[in-house]
Amino acid sequence: MNPLSPHLLPLGASTDDEGKLTLHGVSFEELVEVYGTPLFVYDTDDIVDKVTHLTRVANWKVAYASKAFLSVALLRLLKSYDILLDVASGGELAVAKAADFPGDRLIFHGNNKSRRELEEAVAYGVGLIVLDSFNEVERLRQIAKREGKVVPVLVRVTPGVEAHTHEYIMTGQEDSKFGFSVSSGAAKKAIETIMGDEALEFMGIHAHIGSQIFLLESFRKEVEALAPLLHAYRPRIINLGGGIGVAYLNYEESGDFAIWAKTLTATLDELTLDFDYEVIVEPGRAIVASSALTFYTVGTVKEVEGVRTYLAVDGGMSDNPRPVIYDSGYEAFLPRAVGADRDKNFRIVGKHCESGDVIIKDAFLPSETSVGDVVATPVTGAYGYSMASNYNRVPRPPVVFVDSSGHRLAIRGETYDDLLRLELF
Ligand SMILES: Cc1ncc(COP(=O)(O)O)c(C=O)c1O
Repeated sequence: MNPLSPHLLPLGASTDDEGKLTLHGVSFEELVEVYGTPLFVYDTDDIVDKVTHLTRVANWKVAYASKAFLSVALLRLLKSYDILLDVASGGELAVAKAADFPGDRLIFHGNNKSRRELEEAVAYGVGLIVLDSFNEVERLRQIAKREGKVVPVLVRVTPGVEAHTHEYIMTGQEDSKFGFSVSSGAAKKAIETIMGDEALEFMGIHAHIGSQIFLLESFRKEVEALAPLLHAYRPRIINLGGGIGVAYLNYEESGDFAIWAKTLTATLDELTLDFDYEVIVEPGRAIVASSALTFYTVGTVKEVEGVRTYLAVDGGMSDNPRPVIYDSGYEAFLPRAVGADRDKNFRIVGKHCESGDVIIKDAFLPSETSVGDVVATPVTGAYGYSMASNYNRVPRPPVVFVDSSGHRLAIRGETYDDLLRLELF
């Protein structure tokens, strides 16, 4: 009854003779024993598989949106593939630099890039800086002029499309903090300002309508909304953002890369643009979400008679804030019995001092789940670790990479000393 659907597990996941989870032949017990819990485990072969598939599915360039999950080890791996990298802050840029990710393969985003961040981007030779406001145009113009450089830029536009997703991850609508509106004429004005400036080189247009989008019609509308700008300014680059949805729950199915590609490219074809252009897409979630699982240990089981049973684990909203922020759903399972019936409804909660610290409101697990059990939540590779916090001064968990050659630590777990490193005694 109601076992976990295997499509939510990464490529290297399997079960041993006893029905226990293995990742590329490594037992989950070994991982938990070596690294402890909570623990993020990424199957990097799964990531590589997604990247390879995405780059081949259409005649486009893929930029990985690093905000979904960023680490030096990941970038060292990704830089040998034919992809670009999105960064959206000076901090993300610093990680890219630490991994020696080439500057000319970087795209720098953000709705309020500081002077310092822009200076750092220019100094590192970032390939494309995406300008988001007239203030930024002016800031970057001054920096480029001072440095005697011509800086290649994209113009972020808000196409006025309401993607069907959570309000907090919807970005293409008119009423948005991001970008220049097409309908008000702001985008036109921004492009013309940039074109008239010797220190900035207009390379193209960028739009991103949101995240976790399943309705392909939203992507079609995005491209159609850009049509007047494309015809008028003949950009060399058309960057259509990321956002393709990912399955988190048994009954969901991830967006199909080929169909997404076809929707975007066919809509562009219908515009019969009479100039050469390059298409860029920027998926984040679709590349890393399903490559990872989080392991937790159950510490407390609390039965509220006639109401529900709470399972409290050793992590929570500090390692996965998505349920709190977006009311996102996840599945859970026991890695010691992957295919077991999940016959009882539990509420999986974290260890933080918040009633809202819920990981899964209605989690189905085997009824015998008890204290000491390791519980896993699949599809936690995107916007989990990257949005993690130290609330209640809970150290962030380690991140482990697994592939066909074994397992290794990619980011070590925080210690109390790490938590104290900013304190001035
Ligand atoms: C500009 C931009 N590009 C790409 C992405 C990646 O989106 P996703 O992870 O949904 O593919 C985001 C995410 O918010 C974004 O803001």
